[in-house]
Amino acid sequence: MNKLLVSLLLTLGITGMAHAAGDAAAGQGKVAVCGACHGADGNSLAPTFPKLAGQGERYLLKQLRDIKSGARAVVPMTGMLSSLSEQDLADIAAYFASQNMSVGAADPKLVARGQELFRGGKLEQGMPACTGCHSPTGAGNATAGFPKIGGQHGDYITLQLTSFREGERTNDGDTKIMRSIAEKLSNKDIAALSSYIQGLH
Ligand code: HEC
Ligand code: HEC
Repeated sequence: MNKLLVSLLLTLGITGMAHAAGDAAAGQGKVAVCGACHGADGNSLAPTFPKLAGQGERYLLKQLRDIKSGARAVVPMTGMLSSLSEQDLADIAAYFASQNMSVGAADPKLVARGQELFRGGKLEQGMPACTGCHSPTGAGNATAGFPKIGGQHGDYITLQLTSFREGERTNDGDTKIMRSIAEKLSNKDIAALSSYIQGLH
């Protein structure tokens, strides 16, 4: 291997470690309290509690910070993160990211409309396709922090799209990425998308 490459790899390794890197094994010991709602491995059973298993690490860490600071209001989690350090949050994010998300099933009657919206967007209204950021399989883009949504509970997806549309969830940044998309969606669109996404993998 040439010397330049070796020194580049070393530099990258060192800068990587300067950010609090999450330790999945340590994280496993910090999530006992989360399991009641999200499932021990992050595959929740109740459809309004999001699955965290296999979710992107960067997205998870951002949500944990936002929930802790109150930028995203999650009432059932009130106070639960307040005693956790930045390292704890990073470890927890690494743990859930290392698990595998289970997949649900779509309602066959809604698949065609859901797929059309997911892959094609609503061009006439300038709404982009979901695939551009969440990928055709719904896997998201872990590096960019775009969440994995394929396989997520449909009821939870419905809740999030509605909250973005009504301006109740506002932690999607100054560009309002998801709020500007959700405002173009009717309740019927949201129902079709949520069912399609639940079965997507
Ligand atoms: C009493 C139930 C409950 C417990 C316990 C709980 N959560 Fe949650 N959590 C929720 C609910 C409900 C939501 C979704 C709220 C909403 O609709 O926006 C949520 C959302 C989240 C999200 C955002 C997921 C996403 O896809 O955006 C993360 C991350 C999260 N919780 C992590 C944790 C962690 C880590 C713990 C343990 C320290 C924990 N939760 C404990 C109920 C709970
Ligand atoms: C330009 C990129 C982009 C496009 C296009 C896009 N999204 Fe998103 N989406 C995001 C980002 C970024 C977030 C995370 C926001 C945050 O940090 O809280 C997100 C979050 C979400 C969430 C919340 C996930 C969770 O676990 O809470 C859902 C659901 C969602 N998007 C569905 C969709 C659907 C359905 C479409 C198509 C109609 C779509 N998105 C199009 C970028 C995009």
